[in-house]
Amino acid sequence: MTARIAVLASGRGSNLQAILEAIRRGTLDAEVVGVFSDRPAAPALQQVPEPLRWSRRPSGFPDKTAYEDALAQAIDAVRPDWVVCAGYMRILGDALIARFRGRLLNIHPSLLPRYRGLHTHARALEARDADHGASVHFVIPELDAGAVIAQVRVPILADDTPETLAARLLPREHALLVAVLRLAATGALAEQGDITLCHGQPLLNPLLLDSTDRLNP
Ligand code: GRF
Repeated sequence: MTARIAVLASGRGSNLQAILEAIRRGTLDAEVVGVFSDRPAAPALQQVPEPLRWSRRPSGFPDKTAYEDALAQAIDAVRPDWVVCAGYMRILGDALIARFRGRLLNIHPSLLPRYRGLHTHARALEARDADHGASVHFVIPELDAGAVIAQVRVPILADDTPETLAARLLPREHALLVAVLRLAATGALAEQGDITLCHGQPLLNPLLLDSTDRLNP
């Protein structure tokens, strides 16, 4: 059955675009049933027709709980199988996470558990890491800390800047997210406590995306 995907995005929306392209090409059996943003001006919203867009400024609500209640209700209303944070730049509250736990995913631009939080590219360069990458993980209340499903690695080159490194990683992030969603859409993924089950088996290590965009143990 075609998977119903809700996407949370605050900005550019290139990950959302990758999802939409994969669906259009027929390589991802899914439907984007809503795009949700804390920024009404987010370019990401423009990628879907108006009825699929939801955006509210958190500052228009009495507090974070009220904003997230409204957000959670709007997400629920589109009956998603999966809720994907793709560049959603706010830390989700416990109630919202509990409501969608087990079907709530995030893409983070680092090889978790390295570099939770912001400025991941600069931090990888500062640490003189040999490689960098991105992770797709289940969302839990602790920031960027849930069970990692899959990762992609890119080399760090001698003359890299945070910008060149981010630009090299971005297309690989897109391929990673689409590959994970393909797996999710077939019903192969589940979260059990702090581990990922893939086809019912616990993943001891995250799956790794290869150069042909396949996920391998
Ligand atoms: C990506 O780098 C993603 O990993 C991070 O935020 C960025 C979002 O980019 N969480 P986009 O809005 O999908 O283009």
